Amino acid sequence: MPSAAAELVFDEATKVYPGREGAAVDHLSLTVPAGEICVLVGPSGGGKTTALKLVNRLIPLTGGDIRIDGTSILDHDLVELRRSIGYVIQQVGLFPHMTIEANIGTVPKLLGRDRKWIRRRVAELLELVGLDPDKDRKRFPAELSGGQRQRVGLARALAANPSLMLMDEPFGAIDPIVRARLQDEFLRLQHELRKTVVFVTHDIDEAIKLGDRIAILREGGRLAQYDTPQRILEQPVDDFVADFVGRDRALKALSLRTLGDLEPTSAAGDGLPRLPAETNLRDALAVLIAEHREALVVVGADGRALGVVKREDLLR
Ligand SMILES: Nc1ncnc2c1ncn2[C@@H]1O[C@H](COP(=O)(O)OP(=O)(O)OP(=O)(O)O)[C@@H](O)[C@H]1O
Ligand SMILES: [Mg+2]
Repeated sequence: MPSAAAELVFDEATKVYPGREGAAVDHLSLTVPAGEICVLVGPSGGGKTTALKLVNRLIPLTGGDIRIDGTSILDHDLVELRRSIGYVIQQVGLFPHMTIEANIGTVPKLLGRDRKWIRRRVAELLELVGLDPDKDRKRFPAELSGGQRQRVGLARALAANPSLMLMDEPFGAIDPIVRARLQDEFLRLQHELRKTVVFVTHDIDEAIKLGDRIAILREGGRLAQYDTPQRILEQPVDDFVADFVGRDRALKALSLRTLGDLEPTSAAGDGLPRLPAETNLRDALAVLIAEHREALVVVGADGRALGVVKREDLLR
């Protein structure tokens, strides 16, 4: 069931919490094109959660505007607005006394869908996020692992087929291996569903992996830079951004490109390491260093050699 993705625009959006000095989100302006993933990163207290809550009007704007497909959120009917937005909250927030099925079916039920429809939709969503509809449907959140709970949170946010997804550290509290798997599955899902997504994380590597664009917020909810991962890594606008992405940003930038992006030469490749064209340049460099080699052979999907690249070609 395709639903058109929406364009999301923050236009000088500002939030000052009553009784607090300074803004939590300060004149934030950025556009998330329809169907793209925008990752919000920044220090704790930098206003990331606040920015998300402004979008579905869980908290009111102090100033500026937010528009979805050109219409101000203030001109949307509140119920309609929330229905068109999937929200994965920080710490998942499943209802502990309700089964997985009931958790995922909450919004469809509110929308008046019948039991049969909900049951079918829940099964479809559980399948989609890699859980077992038969086994997991009747379980309670406490009976699931952290990673499984995160999947249920994602399924619940997708239940009403929203055109916009707000995800607040959805993979926050899980170990790195499960986290990497969830990230891969999320990217695969996004490839199919093409939602507009605002994704909050603390983790710059997660941001680089998932984001079509990355918005870096500094203290006080001010936008430091909004750019593609490549540009954030290669052209940080200032020391704050450079520090935030880390001293290894040159290496991180290498992980964004693959051997297939290079032009191999037809030099002899006898005895050199052979790596698939989809290997990223960071991993390729690691192999050259580990094996004390200066060059490698790039191999195509059919197993044939495409040519040779040298160590310095990787670093150009
Ligand atoms: N309901 C509230 N009332 C008053 N101040 C708040 C409220 N919620 C958040 N704040 C303040 O607004 C600022 C931004 O908070 P926010 O939760 O948006 O940060 P965050 O970037 O999501 O942080 P974290 O990475 O720790 O989740 C903080 O200084 C916080 O103390
Ligand atoms: Mg937060």
